[in-house]
Amino acid sequence: MGHSRKFIIAGNWKMHKTKKETLAFIQELVLHSSLNSKVAVYIAPPFTSIETAVEAAEETPICIGAQNMSEFSKGAYTGEISSEMLKEVGACFVILGHSERRQIFHENNQMIQQKLKQAIREKIAALLCIGETEKERDQKKTQSILRQQIEEAFRGLSSEEIQKVTIAYEPVWAIGTNRAATPEIAEEAHAFCREFLSERWGEEVAHSMSILYGGSVKPDNVGELIRKPNIDGALIGGASLDVDSFSQIIRNVEALI
Ligand code: PGA
Repeated sequence: MGHSRKFIIAGNWKMHKTKKETLAFIQELVLHSSLNSKVAVYIAPPFTSIETAVEAAEETPICIGAQNMSEFSKGAYTGEISSEMLKEVGACFVILGHSERRQIFHENNQMIQQKLKQAIREKIAALLCIGETEKERDQKKTQSILRQQIEEAFRGLSSEEIQKVTIAYEPVWAIGTNRAATPEIAEEAHAFCREFLSERWGEEVAHSMSILYGGSVKPDNVGELIRKPNIDGALIGGASLDVDSFSQIIRNVEALI
């Protein structure tokens, strides 16, 4: 594929896997995958499993991260986890603005912007999730929603900072539904995002940023998705929980790039 962006396969485990299950998964993944350097493999276990995952992935190229993070550095924020805490246990990236965080836990673009700022300031790679709901798509609001989510999340950040962020386009209607976007629909949204990034922050920024697709990605559809020119990898929920399907996804991508 004719560009220099990094291909990323990221697993979002959501609220699954104890420490014991995490250890077994990573050990098996390391054993059964070639994990070559063409594809960056990211895994985001629950907070309590991060340290175990980091230890198990030591001396492998797997990057372990978190599914969320506080926008605050420290203080009276019951139940929250700071960037410093994440870095101490070895997390190297954080997923921000996942649609489950937006919908169930009422995170808005402004909070996500604060979290993004904190991640950048603290040098944790940020994976920013955006995406429209089914209703918004039906109402032909997809592009304006994506534009607004990007614009508001990046407010106040410099081009240099924005360039470090990875975006995951995850249409809400495709998450956990077994109804992945077609490669054409996904590509259209990715191309739109890249064009908007280019207009707003310049071509160099837009062309260096990886944009992942997420929503019912499986071993049998990952290939057709990542063949599209603006799709630089995948963020995977359900199919990342099973080591066979996750490593099959990695292998399928490695074979294509
Ligand atoms: P899914 O989840 O692969 O189970 O659809 C994707 C996600 O929520 O990141």
